[in-house]
Amino acid sequence: MEKQAKPVTTAKFQKMKKEGTPISVITAYDYPSAKLAEEAGVDAILVGDSLGNVVLGHESTLPVTLDDIIYHTRAVTRAVTIPLVVADMPFMTYHGSRDETLRGVARLMREGLAKTIKMEGGAEIAETVQNCVQAGVPVMGHLGFTPQSVHRIGGYFIQGKTEKDARKLIDDAIALEQAGAYAIVLELMPEELAGEISRRLSIPTIGIGAGSQCDGQVLVFHDMLQYGSGIPPKKFVKPYARIGDMMREGIAQYVKEVKNRSFPDEAHSFHGEQTAVGASYGAEGAAK
Ligand code: KIV
Repeated sequence: MEKQAKPVTTAKFQKMKKEGTPISVITAYDYPSAKLAEEAGVDAILVGDSLGNVVLGHESTLPVTLDDIIYHTRAVTRAVTIPLVVADMPFMTYHGSRDETLRGVARLMREGLAKTIKMEGGAEIAETVQNCVQAGVPVMGHLGFTPQSVHRIGGYFIQGKTEKDARKLIDDAIALEQAGAYAIVLELMPEELAGEISRRLSIPTIGIGAGSQCDGQVLVFHDMLQYGSGIPPKKFVKPYARIGDMMREGIAQYVKEVKNRSFPDEAHSFHGEQTAVGASYGAEGAAK
C-alpha cells in the first residue's frame, strides 16, 4: 500500500533544518492554486499579503485587510491537508495592544483555519511574537525587505548591504528565534548575509531573493508561473511556466470561435435524447 504523506508541521520544519533537507514554500490564495501546489509536493503554502499586489490589483500590500486574508486562507485550507498553511498578518494588525493582536490572530486561525501566522519585523516585534507563541500560535518571522514598510524603506531595495545593517539583521534574527519564532523569511539580501543568519539560527530560514544558502525557498505563485499580464521580470524569480500567456491564448481562441460560430460545435451541444450528467461549473459535469 502506498505510504500516505503526513501533514507538514512546524516540528517537521525543525527536523528538515537539522537534516539539511531544503524546505519548499509557495504562496497561494485560492482553492485551485493551493490544490495544485499540494499535488506538486510543496512543504508549505503562504497566504501572503502579496495577495494585494498579484490578486487584488493594489500597488502594495498595505491595503490588504484581515478579512481579505481570512477569506483567502479559508479557500486555501479547504483545498489542502498536507502542506503547512501560513497566513500573513496584514499591515498594522499587530502593532496595537496585545489583546488586539491576539484577537486578529485568533480570527486567522479560527475562521481561516491557518496553522501558523507570519509577521514582518525584528527585535521591535519580539514581544509580540512571544505573546503569540505563549498563546499557542506558531509564528514565522520576516526580515530583510519587509513589504509592509516599503514607504519607510523608500522602495524595493536590497537590505543588509552595509556592515551596520547586516549586523542589525543578524541581531533581529536572533531576537525572533529567542522570542519563539519557528522559522524566518529572509527577503532581498545578499546571499552571504542570508547564509550567515541561516548558520547562526537553529530554526529554518526561508529565502526569497536571498540566495542559495537559506534552509528553504519561497516564491510568489504569480511570479514563478507568470500568472498575470505583463509581470515585470525580477532577478530572483525563475519563471517555471508562463501560464498567463497560455490563458490569454486560450481565451482569445474562445472569443474567435464564438465570433465565427465554430463554438459550440456538435461535440459540445445537447440534443433531445441526451441528459446532462453531474452538471457543475468547471467540473466534469458534461453531458453523455
Ligand atoms: O506576502 C508574501 O507573499 C510574502 C512573501 C514574499 C514571503 O511575504
